[in-house]
Amino acid sequence: MVAEKRFLTLTEMVQAARRNLHRNEWDYLMGAAETEASLRRNRAGVESWLFRPRILNDVSGASARTSLLGHSVRLPVVMPPIGSVQVFHPEGALDVARAADEFGVLQILSSVCQPDFETLAAEAPGPRIYQLYLVRDQAWMDDIIERSIAAGYTAFCLTADTQVYSRRERDMLKRHIPGSGRQVQGNDFGEQARMTWDTVAHIKERFDIPLVIKGVARADDAARCAQMGVDVVYVSNHGGRQLDHTRACIDVLPEVVEAVAGRAPVWVDGGFMRGADVVKALCLGAAAVGMGRFEGLALAAGGRDALTNALQILEHEVVTAMALLGVSSLDALQPDLLVREAPLAPPDVLSAFPLVDDY
Ligand SMILES: Cc1cc2nc3c(=O)[nH]c(=O)nc-3n(C[C@H](O)[C@H](O)[C@H](O)COP(=O)(O)O)c2cc1C
Repeated sequence: MVAEKRFLTLTEMVQAARRNLHRNEWDYLMGAAETEASLRRNRAGVESWLFRPRILNDVSGASARTSLLGHSVRLPVVMPPIGSVQVFHPEGALDVARAADEFGVLQILSSVCQPDFETLAAEAPGPRIYQLYLVRDQAWMDDIIERSIAAGYTAFCLTADTQVYSRRERDMLKRHIPGSGRQVQGNDFGEQARMTWDTVAHIKERFDIPLVIKGVARADDAARCAQMGVDVVYVSNHGGRQLDHTRACIDVLPEVVEAVAGRAPVWVDGGFMRGADVVKALCLGAAAVGMGRFEGLALAAGGRDALTNALQILEHEVVTAMALLGVSSLDALQPDLLVREAPLAPPDVLSAFPLVDDY
């Protein structure tokens, strides 16, 4: 793996990731389920929202600092769970933890990556969320939640869009099984398929830890989460890696924000690669934006330092977009700063980086 110098642009970060990753790992990171339509739709959605900037506002103090789940952060961005993240850089989730703490964003640790949640918490104490796949029964889940509270995790996340493991053709064509996929028999992902609203009720009743439900894709489910006291309603289609032919997550966001009606923060991920992309989601009512492939690419580009570097560039992009929109604080980001139009060209997973092959 090549040690990289400091990047000035996210394009350089993606170029470095491409150089460093073997084809199997590149496809595992960038690929999605079946025809990959959900993946392309995520990008198409993000690219379909255009800005309507205001002029002649004083934006000299523009800042994107805020707090999430009571923790102050430098950007309303989260590093979402990535299974087998260690295949992108040997230190894996530990590097993500350190870069997230160093820079000031929240990490959601996947339960199917290295190191395990207790080792990670001991080696890198800091505010963090633990995401669990229910591979065994409820008693096992309860034990893990208790141990994650004891280890200092600030919230617990259930991923609800992975009832079964999807068909990822890029991996299947090469007979490549990523580490996180090795727990799967066929498409059976343990107890995930038996998870219901009762699981949510049980966690809310039994444990005093904020609960994030990740994978919300429609208003009625979002309203039900809010009504049950879920602490974060997280709109996601797993980066297009689970159900194919879903709507773009950014397009689901407005109906979810309306349904939740301020009862819980709404987070979103899916296709957000740049600062301007993040700003669009914030305009539509998201309290935070997850950036999964961004996280994996930055890690592949050079581990902890590259991820910290990428977050600094991202912050610069966010604040630049806010200032050029005529806005200096996050609460001034409103839907009327956006309008919808057809994207310029059919988008793909790398369309946020049109210069990657040119330089
Ligand atoms: C390589 C990879 C592994 C992932 N593993 C998990 C996981 O273990 N748990 C989970 O809830 N989501 C997982 N996701 C989904 C991400 O948390 C997130 O929802 C998605 O990446 C957002 O889309 P984006 O990559 O376009 O930002 C994974 C995504 C990628 C790219």
